Amino acid sequence: MEVLKIPTHVAIIMDGNGRWAKAKGLPRKMGHVQGGKNVEDMLYVCDEIGIKYFTVYAFSTENWKRSEDEVSALMTLLRSYLSSGFKKAAKNNVRIRIIGDRTRLADDIQKLIEDLEEDSKDNTGLQFQIAINYGARDEIRRMMQKTASEIADGSLKAEDITESYISDHLDTAGIPDPDLLIRTSNELRISNFLLWQCAYSEFYFCDCNWPDFNKDELMKAIVEYNKRDRRFGNAK
Ligand code: IPE
Ligand code: IPE
Ligand code: MG
Repeated sequence: MEVLKIPTHVAIIMDGNGRWAKAKGLPRKMGHVQGGKNVEDMLYVCDEIGIKYFTVYAFSTENWKRSEDEVSALMTLLRSYLSSGFKKAAKNNVRIRIIGDRTRLADDIQKLIEDLEEDSKDNTGLQFQIAINYGARDEIRRMMQKTASEIADGSLKAEDITESYISDHLDTAGIPDPDLLIRTSNELRISNFLLWQCAYSEFYFCDCNWPDFNKDELMKAIVEYNKRDRRFGNAK
């Protein structure tokens, strides 16, 4: 049997926490609790199978429109992971980076993020990105605004804006583009996630809700990925 090629960077749109809870007659919040636990478990699974970069979509710029109760439950969970579960991962050589606009988050959450990024910056194991208050359009807007002011003050020339300049000035600077993008819960959309970075990613959709996603489901995605004939615009 041929050895499976493991994608370098796997990104996941973790969807279906609410549906998972509903199916069990539980409040939506419980779906997020279970989903959070699963992020922690999957971190170690990714590391074990040799994935180098793992990016998860935890909270979108649009998710603020959910009920106050749900947003506050998500923020409470986030606090708890940033101060314990992810901290533990950082001690296990995982490097953690947050993508998205953190300035809208509560001050204490911003501080937890800063500490976690600083404490894990030299870690050489799994490179773990968490998208919080992330939207790809907002990411591009922020990058454009900064670039426009650099052009205005003369520190940048219009012709310096190359594709690699753009890649290097998005939140994911220094992180290779995802090879495989997975979305759980049978929704076939990208929902404003990594629009620039997924230009040539392979997409994989599965039925299971995020709290039920596990190593077997990930291996199914990787087997499917191995059947794809990846192209980057080149005719073969
Ligand atoms: C994904 O689950 C988690 C977040 C978006 C925070 P959902 O909460 O979107 O679950 P469904 O889509 O309602 O089932
Ligand atoms: C996308 O899921 C955002 C996250 C997984 C954090 P949503 O459930 O918010 O997306 P839509 O609204 O169904 O597109
Ligand atoms: Mg959803």
